[in-house]
Amino acid sequence: MPASLLDRFKNRRMILSPAADCSRDTPIAAVPDHDAACRHIRPMFDFWQSLLAALERIAMLPSLIHSVFTSLPSRRRMRDAVRTYDRTMDDLLREIQSLLESPLEPAKLLHMSGKLQEQFAPKLQASDICMLPSYNDTLPTGLEQGTYLALDVGGSTFRVAVVELKGKQPGAKSMRIVTMKSYKIDNIVRNLRGNAFFDWMAEKIEAALSDPQVQNLNGTKTFGMGLAWSFPVEQTSIRSANLLMMGKGFRATEGTLGQDLSELVMAPCRKRNLPVRIESIVNDCSATLLSRAYEDPSTRFAVILGTGFNVAVHLPVSALASSKYKGYPQKWLDQAEHVLVNTELSMFGKDVFPRTRWDEQLNDAHLRPDFQPFEHMISGRYLGEVVRLIIVEAVRTAGLFSGELPAKLEEPYSLDTGTLAAMELDESKFFTHATALFQSMHPLSKPPTHDDIHFVRQVAQLVSHRAAAFLAAGIHSLWKLMIHSEGLAPAEAGKIAIGCNGSVIEKYPSFRELCQSHLDELTTASGTEPNLISLEVAVESAIFGAAVAVCCLEE
Ligand code: GLC
Repeated sequence: MPASLLDRFKNRRMILSPAADCSRDTPIAAVPDHDAACRHIRPMFDFWQSLLAALERIAMLPSLIHSVFTSLPSRRRMRDAVRTYDRTMDDLLREIQSLLESPLEPAKLLHMSGKLQEQFAPKLQASDICMLPSYNDTLPTGLEQGTYLALDVGGSTFRVAVVELKGKQPGAKSMRIVTMKSYKIDNIVRNLRGNAFFDWMAEKIEAALSDPQVQNLNGTKTFGMGLAWSFPVEQTSIRSANLLMMGKGFRATEGTLGQDLSELVMAPCRKRNLPVRIESIVNDCSATLLSRAYEDPSTRFAVILGTGFNVAVHLPVSALASSKYKGYPQKWLDQAEHVLVNTELSMFGKDVFPRTRWDEQLNDAHLRPDFQPFEHMISGRYLGEVVRLIIVEAVRTAGLFSGELPAKLEEPYSLDTGTLAAMELDESKFFTHATALFQSMHPLSKPPTHDDIHFVRQVAQLVSHRAAAFLAAGIHSLWKLMIHSEGLAPAEAGKIAIGCNGSVIEKYPSFRELCQSHLDELTTASGTEPNLISLEVAVESAIFGAAVAVCCLEE
């Protein structure tokens, strides 16, 4: 039941620590003696705090007082002992909770869904960066067969795999990765400009092909190759697409923007005499939809939520203006009833989702402010950053970590969302693993206290829960668009599945379940039967989808 999951989540989360302010210096290892220790430490601590606060007020020279104390040998400890903070940790946590949770009521999420639908309307008429149609009109039947070379260019990895599609068989998997090589895309690769990036890709394809297992598989034949591309593209045929702006810190578009992506990939491959031929280019999210639909014909959507975020949807052709199909062959236009659309949903949502001061800070400091407002609220690249900004404020204004900011956390994007996921997973009484992990990633001069870790976990839960709810609003808005274009009322809409891929939606604790709960609330509020849409994990779907796209073409 959605409601009970949400209630359980809130109860688990929203109990503020009763011993919250005893002493933030108490390391986690000392917690069993915590109460006894507090009885002695607390009066002394209070005495120093009140004395210093009074002196600060009387002398009106706080900086002088601080400078005397901070020159003492145990500088950090002193600073905490003498420092008065603007507010308590509990007060701050209450404010964070209210800011992050108040927008999540069903009525408010429905309102956001409605505003997103308003933003879709002009982009379905004209936009060369979102609501991008493909040349895929039908979804796979699941009977297609073949062996292909599948490429997946993600935000941080380039993967080259041989994928075998076997078609539906009772009791057997319909697709398998025969062999796969992964190459890290680090900052050096991300910074490769123009053709240099595609040369790098060709070099890695050559390395993958030199594997004896791959050579045995294909002999001297040319490999049909499918490419899943984790950026927007303007399709010019099923085999080709023009390069559009790439986010995620890539510079491959410098000097190549608008050029044919298939030629950009094939030219260096030809130079190396590689036995490959590009057959299909598809956005990674559309690839996820194709691969999930290969296994489950009720699939109509795909969500990718990892470092990046996107949703692909199978819409009636008429949902998009005819100008969106400029250059499409008449034959395609005559026969196609539906079209696979890359929505680039990450680019919507400006002025839809309420922003906190931390969201504003993130956006203001961003290389491309407002380019992908939805992604800033929910993707793995940003969840850690929002929590980091809250931590910085909590250290400075409420005495988190005894007022000491771990050095690395000064750096933007230094708090990994994966660290938060692992900390949330530790539900033990003393948060032993969460503490050890945090201390190893972000060392403090004294280990964080139980209250410190409790605070970080609570904030992580609030930020990730908000993301799950906003994603539900986004999916609801596209579902409304879909049924509206099908000419259906909500009560007439059939059950559908959504293929989900990416580290956040697949692995972040409780994320998919919370999103599902909110989605159920929203669809039933719109008048459907319960459990109409189900979020299904689609593992490795970008790489599988690159192969499915090629084999659909051969049908
Ligand atoms: C980004 C890209 C989009 C991609 C998504 C998931 O938002 O703009 O094309 O599908 O990340 O990788």
